[in-house]
Order: sequence, then C-alpha cells, then structure tokens
Amino acid sequence: YEITVDPNGRGAAIDDTMYGVFFEDINRAADGGLYAELVQNRSFEYSTADNGSYTPLTSWTVSGSAEVRDDSGRLNERNRNYLALSAGSAVTNAGYNTGLRVEKGKRYDFSVWARAEEGSTLTVGLKDAAGTLATARQVGVLGGWRRYTATFTANRTSSHGRLTVATTRAAALDMVSLFPRDTYKRQSNGLRKDLAEKIEALNPAFVRFPGGCLVNTGSMEDYSESSNWQRKRSYQWKDTIGPVEERATNANFWGYNQSYGLGYYEYFRFAEDIGAMPLPVVPALVTGCGQNRATDDEALLKRHIQDTLDLIEFANGPVTSTWGKKRAEMGHPSPFGLTHLAVGNEENLPREFFARFQKFRAAIEAEYPDITVVSNSGPDDSGSTFDTAWQLNREADVDMVDEHYYNSPQWFLQNNDRYNSYDRGGPKVFLGEYASQGNALKNALAEAAFMTGLERNADVVKLASYAPLLANEDYVQWRPDLIWFNNHASWNSANYEVQKLFMNNVGDRVVPSTATGTPDVSGPITGAVGLSTWATSAAYDDVRVTAADGTELLSDDFSGDASRWTHTGGGSWSVQDGAYLQSDEAAENTMVSAGDAGWHDYDLHVKATKKAGK
Ligand code: AHR
Repeated sequence: YEITVDPNGRGAAIDDTMYGVFFEDINRAADGGLYAELVQNRSFEYSTADNGSYTPLTSWTVSGSAEVRDDSGRLNERNRNYLALSAGSAVTNAGYNTGLRVEKGKRYDFSVWARAEEGSTLTVGLKDAAGTLATARQVGVLGGWRRYTATFTANRTSSHGRLTVATTRAAALDMVSLFPRDTYKRQSNGLRKDLAEKIEALNPAFVRFPGGCLVNTGSMEDYSESSNWQRKRSYQWKDTIGPVEERATNANFWGYNQSYGLGYYEYFRFAEDIGAMPLPVVPALVTGCGQNRATDDEALLKRHIQDTLDLIEFANGPVTSTWGKKRAEMGHPSPFGLTHLAVGNEENLPREFFARFQKFRAAIEAEYPDITVVSNSGPDDSGSTFDTAWQLNREADVDMVDEHYYNSPQWFLQNNDRYNSYDRGGPKVFLGEYASQGNALKNALAEAAFMTGLERNADVVKLASYAPLLANEDYVQWRPDLIWFNNHASWNSANYEVQKLFMNNVGDRVVPSTATGTPDVSGPITGAVGLSTWATSAAYDDVRVTAADGTELLSDDFSGDASRWTHTGGGSWSVQDGAYLQSDEAAENTMVSAGDAGWHDYDLHVKATKKAGK
C-alpha cells in the first residue's frame, strides 16, 4: 500500500481532553484495589445480601468468642454492625488475596473505633505464618466509643499478613483499619500507590466514575427510605462522603460489598491529583444493564435531581454554600472544577430514560449553564434501543451522548470508519466504554487501529475511554481489563500500552492522508501473540518460560541491569503464527515460531527464582 500524506491539509482538531479513563468498582477495583485499605470487611458489614457466601465475619477469624451485633449500641446509624468481643478473645483479619501486604521498613497506620470498660487493653499484632511482621502495639481503651490509632513499621516484607486485635476485657470494635502510610501522594484515606501511578502514567485527560452498571442498578431510594435500607441501592454520591465510619456500605452490582471508603471526595481528589477532569455519572431513575424499570415516583425523581445539583455544588460551590462547606470540611476548600456530568448508563428503556434525562438536563442547565450534561445511548451500539436513544438525543439537540461497545478485534478493524458518517451538526460523542474482547497483542493493535478512526473524526468524537480499567486477578467479573493486580503486584496489559501511547501523544490536528488500498480485514487476525511475565532483577535471580514439553522459550538470569518483565503468565495459550515473549532488554525478545499459519496450543510455564528475603 502507498500512503500519501498532505502536510498542508487541515483535518479535524483534536481536543486535549480526547482520551481519559473510566473507573468502575468492578473486579474489586476499589476495596481490595485502588483504595489502599488493607483490612477486608473492616466494619463487619458484609452480608449474604451482597453475596450468598458472605457473613458479617467474612475475612475474620475469632479466637475465643465474639458476636456481630446490630443494636442500639452501634457506633452510628449508617454503618450499623459492630463486633462484640468477649474478654480474653481476639479477632484476626486476612485482608484480600493472600493477605495483608506489608513491605520491610514501611509504616502502616492502624485505627479502630472501640468501646470497653475503662482500663481495658487492646493488643494489636501483625504476623504471617513465619512470625511477627511488626512489633505489637497496646491500646488502652477509655470507655465509650472512641477512635484509637497506632503505627507499625514492618520488619519484613510479606503478602500474607494477618492483623489481630485481642482484648483483655469485653470490648466492642468497629472500623478496624490498616493503611499504608505511603499512599498515592501520601493522601489520607488514600489510594494504593502502584495502581494510582499506573493510571497517572497514562496521562488521562478525564476520569469517568463511578460506573457503569454500578450506578443505576438496584433501588433508587436512599439509605433511610429503603425498605431493605442497607442493600442494593443505586450509587448515590451522598452515601459516600464524610467521615468513613459514617458512610453506609452497599451491595455492589458486581457481587460483593462496597465500603464507599473510596467515595466521591476521593474520586474528585484523585482526578485532581492526576491532572484529569472529573466526569461523574449519576443514575437517571431508570435502571440499566438489563434491569428494565423506570420509576414513576415524581418526589423521588425530584430528590435525585436535587442531589445532582447538590453534587455540582459539592464540586464547585464556595465554602459558604451548604455542599461546598462539606467539601472544605473534608479538606478541600478550593473547588474541584467540574465541567461535565453524565446522567444515566446503558438504560434499556430509551423513551423512559430520555423523559427523565430531559428533567435533569433542564434543572442543571437552569442553575449551571456552563456544565455539559452528557446523555446516554443505551446498552450497546446497535439495535432499536440505540437508534431510538440517538434519535431522541439528536432531536433534542443534546450536547454529548455516551455510547459503549465491546466487540471482537475484527470488528474494531472493520469499523475504523464508524464515525465518518456521524452527523457533524448533531450531538458530540463520548465513547465512554469500549474494548476488543481480549488482552492479547492483536486486541491492542485492533484498538490502536480503531483509535486512528476516532482521531480522524475528532470533530465528532470528543472523549474516549477504554473499559474496564482495573481487575484484581482473584476477583474477576469482567475481562479483558486494562490494568491487572493482586495484593502485591500490578501489571499492564498490551491494551494499556496502546492507551498510554495515544494519551501521551495527543496531536493538535489530524493531517489528512490517503492510501492506495485498504488492508483486508475480513478474516481472523493472525500474527504475534504477546506473553510476558513480571519479575524485577531486584527481587528475582532468574526467570524462565518453558512450553509444556519442557522446551525453554525464554530465560533471563538478570545479568543485564534493571531487567523488568511485565505481565503475568502461565496457562494455555492458543497462538497463531508465533508467540512473542518479551522482556525489557531488547536483546532478549524472542519469537516462538509455530511453524505454519494454523492455530497451536501451548502450555507455558513461568518459573522465577526469588532472591532470598524477597
Ligand atoms: O465496563 C463494564 C460494564 O460494561 C459497565 O459496567 C457497563 O456500563 C457495561 O455494560
């Protein structure tokens, strides 16, 4: 093919805000993920309503006797359970994944709300199977509910830590917490550093949050109105601000409990910390994601619209305003600079959604004419729901419409011209969620190719974010995902590298080009498939990858300096033409040839020898 570039031509101007990230609390992206809290189920609020396998003591073991209570002796109304621990008993938390992760020499801040007879003592210890991880701390309890704190310095690195609180006399405990001091930007109630830094490195221009299906599934009632007051409420931002011990927990749509420790204040702060524009999504009083219900309760609709106006005040209002004052009290007197807000996510009832959307839009525009109110186009990119939603949005001259699709890599190659035909005078597009179905190199390449089509149409496509962003490998509800992690490591997908490349190199303007032909994209994508494994020379003596028959495919004894391999490995890999194994040292790149163009299954084994003490 011959490509001719017209250096003097003027294609679409590309906004600096073109690429961003979409954070949803799916795959334990918040608790057990970006939110740095190490204790799981810290306030004993897990419930079978969140997940059939949960109890209020999930992730805890009791030695002696203890009982979770929900009675008038509770710490507060919105976080109801607490643990009554009998004299001489202890309770131990197992954290997430393999346990609490602590690193040698680093500090960890423990806190607990406790009530006990004056003179009682709590002993707090941090251990793993090999022994003590930090010197135990004693906390003297002074009577009624109070918050107590202690600091640990880890004497060893471990990903298997257990936190134990033991009491001399009967005691009530709630909000048992252990945070690394070294959170992202050292913020309190902060974020896990490696994950936040990976997101920051993308250089995203916006953060869409908090969902996704998370936002508008479940009851639209608030905490106190709800008949099942504690569970399955849509994501309502007011539940998620203020002191953490006063935040109500909720059943997460994705099948677990969400503590809201990472709440709206923390989302805004994170967006600010990474230099991105915050872009919240609020429920439109129609349930989405396959749940087709529209509420006809006018009072409830009015309350949600008012909540949305209050959210804008929380983000942007002066400290003298009701909600601006709450923001200031949480530590941020200056405004967060909210400019865009989305109403709704993947509603299956386009007409019902749109009728309610229009009411939100009118109320927001009346009070905050400078805010861009983003509408929605339904659950996927085709079919009558999508078409009807777009038609309604066009007719009403909506500013911007959010659309989502997850498709094969072939689809992404074949639809590079998707936006060529979009109405130039119509609503702008916010591509709020998209991904080709896989984390292999071919998926990343198909997405990269598709993104050139987004840029070519940057006069119509104004914002785009891959989805989902994060996945804890032990709690996966959705794949592929951009960044993977467990309790001690995180690694990027090939798709991440594409996003990073585009986000860090946003052009000003498209330079028009033509090609003599178009590659044939009708068949399956062939070519190299990526596998890499994660190990650093600081922690490992060597790493090697072998096929099931023992053939060594790749090894590195880390004799070169600062080798760092990325991503996970193991399992069965079906590859066509060749598997591409890579470390950062260019010389180590290895092609594994499959010999012909057919499909071949490989069982790849990754073996790494750890350095002593790592
Ligand atoms: O990104 C995962 C899910 O995909 C989102 O929650 C939802 O909006 C979409 O269906």
